[in-house]
This record gives sequence, C-alpha cells and structure tokens, in this order.
Amino acid sequence: MPIDRKPEFFKGSQLKVGIIGCGYVGLPLGLRFAEAGHRVLGFDTDPRKVEKLNQGQSYIGHIPSTKIQQYVRGKLFGATTDFARLAEMDAVVICVPTPLDQRREPDLSYVEQTARSIQPHLQRGQLIVLESTTYPGTTEELALPILESTGLHCPIAHGPDAEHVATDFFLAFSPEREDPGNKQYGLAQIPKVVGGVNPPSGRAAVALYAQIVARVVPVSSTRAAEMSKLLENIFRCVNIALVNELKLLATRMGIDIWEVIDAAATKPFGFMPFYPGPGLGGHCIPVDPYYLSWKAREFDFATRFIELAGEINTAMPYHVVEAIGSALNDRQKALRGARTLVLGVAYKKDVDDLRESPTLKIMQLLTQRGAHLAYNDPYFPELQKMRHYNFEGMKSVELTPSNLASFDCVVIATDHSSYDYPAIVEASHLVVDTRNATRRIARHRSKIVLC
Ligand SMILES: NC(=O)c1ccc[n+]([C@@H]2O[C@H](COP(=O)([O-])OP(=O)(O)OC[C@H]3O[C@@H](n4cnc5c(N)ncnc54)[C@H](O)[C@@H]3O)[C@@H](O)[C@H]2O)c1
Repeated sequence: MPIDRKPEFFKGSQLKVGIIGCGYVGLPLGLRFAEAGHRVLGFDTDPRKVEKLNQGQSYIGHIPSTKIQQYVRGKLFGATTDFARLAEMDAVVICVPTPLDQRREPDLSYVEQTARSIQPHLQRGQLIVLESTTYPGTTEELALPILESTGLHCPIAHGPDAEHVATDFFLAFSPEREDPGNKQYGLAQIPKVVGGVNPPSGRAAVALYAQIVARVVPVSSTRAAEMSKLLENIFRCVNIALVNELKLLATRMGIDIWEVIDAAATKPFGFMPFYPGPGLGGHCIPVDPYYLSWKAREFDFATRFIELAGEINTAMPYHVVEAIGSALNDRQKALRGARTLVLGVAYKKDVDDLRESPTLKIMQLLTQRGAHLAYNDPYFPELQKMRHYNFEGMKSVELTPSNLASFDCVVIATDHSSYDYPAIVEASHLVVDTRNATRRIARHRSKIVLC
C-alpha cells in the first residue's frame, strides 16, 4: 500500500472492503457496499455461513438469496474464513457481537479477538472501522493498542491543530443503526454517525460511508460516536420502561393505556409515543445500556435511569405470567396444568430473530409454574437450544380453529402481522394480549384480557 495514502482515497470507486462478522449488521452492510460497486469480502469464523454466502444463500429472513447471488455472480461479493486475506483490503469494517457475559458485564472478547486477527495483516494506509455497539473508549483503549502493536501508529489527536496529523493507518468508530424489518428506513436512508481516532481517520471513514448512505454525520471523536449509539438505545430503554410502569398503574386503575398513548400522541410537539409490551428483546435495547453503566463505574458514577429502567423492563415477563394466572383464575382454572399456547417467540413482530426475546422468559416461567406449553411462530417452525433457554425440539403448533380451541389460554406475546387476530379470538377460549394486537376486534371482547 502507498505510504502517503490520503483520506480522500476512500472517495474512490472499486475499493476492496472487508466486513468482519456477516450477521444481521455485517451482511446487509456488505451487500450495500457491493451495490455501490465496491469489491466486498465477508470474513466470518462460522464456516457454514461462509459456505452459504459463496453459494448465494441467505440465512437472514429479510435478505433475499437472489440479492446475494447477484453480487456473488458479479464478483462483487464473496466470503471467507481466511483472515490472511485482510491484507488485501483497503477498508475493514468490524461487525462482530458485543453481548453481556454471565454477570451482565460487557463481553468484548469478540472485538478483541477480531482486533487480534487483523493485527498480523494490518497494512499502512488501511482504514479500520468498528461498528459493534460498545462503551465510549473501546476503539481507543482496546482496538488501537492491539493494532499499534504492529509498529504502525494511529495517534489519538483532536482539534484544528490535528487536522493533518501523520497517521500510518486510519481508525474510526461508526455505530450501526439497522432496524431489522423496518420497511421505511433501510441502510441507505439512515444517516451514519462517524468519529475518528484523529481527523484524517474521521475524514477517511466519512469518505467511505458517504458512498453508501444519504448522509454522514461526523463527530469529533470515536468516544462521541460510541456514546451517541448508547444514548439512542438508552433513550428507548428508559421510555419503554416508563410506559411499561404506567401500563401497570393504568391496568390497576381500569384505564386502557393504549387509548391514553394514542390520545397523547396527537400533541404535535414534545411527545413521542412508546408502547408497552411483555418486556425488552433483541440484541440491542436490553444489552447496550449496561455497557455504559459498567463503564460509568470507572468514573464513580451511578447511571440510575438505566438501572431503574432495567428493573422495570425485566419484571414485565413476570407480570405477564401473573396476568395469565389471574385470567385463568377468573375462569376457575389454575395455571398449573393449563394448556397454554404462546404466539410469537421472535423479540418483535415480523422478524426471524429471537435473541433476548421476552417470550422465552415467559415460556420458561410458565413451564416452571406447571403450565402445559405450546407455541406458534411462522418464523420459527422448531426451536433450538439457546444460551439461556432449552426448548430444543419444540415445534410450532398450527393455528387451526380446533387447535386453538384445545387450549385454555392463548397468549399474544409478539404481534406478527401475518396472524389472523379475529380468527384467533373467535376460536380461542381466552386470549391474553400483551401488545394490544386485538384492538380492532369488537366481538368476543370478554374473551380478551389486555396485560
Ligand atoms: N442486529 C441489530 O439489529 C443491530 C443493530 C445495531 C447494532 N448492532 C450491533 O452490531 C453488532 C453485531 O450484531 P449482529 O446483530 O450483526 O450480530 P450477529 O450475531 O448477527 O452477527 C455476528 C457475526 O459475527 C460472526 N463472528 C463472531 N465472532 C467473530 C470473529 N471473531 N471474527 C469474525 N466473525 C465473527 C458470527 O459468526 C456472526 O456471523 C453488535 O455489536 C450489535 O450490538 C446490531
């Protein structure tokens, strides 16, 4: 690579872009770079995913195989497990998982392992971007020292005097804002926040992303970029907790919280609706806030809103199970032995992702309390063993009228659009609705319990 590569190089065409981690974030990102005419190579430690990608097969519901095939055939997209090929790349984007460990503390082992796998192949003039959600400081404190152990340097420098600081490689952070299943905003329409370890790194990353998104928002540092993603998710987490708590109060007061939210949402300023549900799910909202509360401890700072929101949201599946028990009790039935059908295991509607889904917690609690459990989810015909739950081998029950009628209680946990809610209510004896999915149904209201 040329020693004097400028940030503007990344405005160029047909760049070689490496994507490390071809999951929910990395795969669509890689395909978007390919769509923009760059030559993309996906790196993943999972050989099955790599094989599938090279055969043009998708393993993510909302990404059609035809799209992958198009770019594989056009030689704009491929995948590999051979990390030595990182040396061929102009830019490398890291999209590996950042979960919590057993003690609910940040597990940065994937990011660290990735930095170590780049290190032996790092080239002068390469741009490395971390996209995985993480606490402020990760890029500078974890990734940078590993990359600099090559002898190549990327100095931390900010402000006008550092505009043209000399740097051997470029390093930046740019948070991913993917919202799987969102038909209104795709990757290309969502503005991308970018912060560099130094100004040339920031400019290099801005130049790269400007080729694939409508708007790039530069910030002054990787820390600001890292924190902006956490602010977005903490904002959601806290507001969902607020509305979940108010739902509990409204239920006790005999008020329909969804009616209240719809009314409040007519205010044209200063209010944004959030909706209650059975608890938080997905890879981001239940996980990311704890990255900040963990880091805050280093600064003797307690993030009380995060902790309180976590407490309320974590209690929601327990509340749902209480509500199911109480609804059965009103019909002179016990939860123990009750035939219970849970609808929707995905963490939100219309996605094939069940990571951190509150439905799984509800199913676990129902089992522990002696209910006979079944589920339906069009996205999951069968359940596999998971990190925290084991429903291995359980199969999705068909939603026929006779099947529905055979259950004491049907629980709407995730409100997939494909469900025929009037037919479900018609055929069921009792429907516990955690999402207000039955809001438009006028008949058989006495069968429905909102919770
Ligand atoms: N899924 C979302 O909607 C979403 C949205 C915004 C941000 N994020 C963030 O993006 C990051 C990635 O999330 P995701 O949902 O794409 O995860 P994912 O589990 O779908 O994908 C991660 C991929 O990385 C691979 N991988 C794991 N370790 C690796 C390694 N050492 N080297 C190469 N590949 C490796 C896995 O095999 C997998 O294919 C996380 O930090 C997450 O918080 C996710």
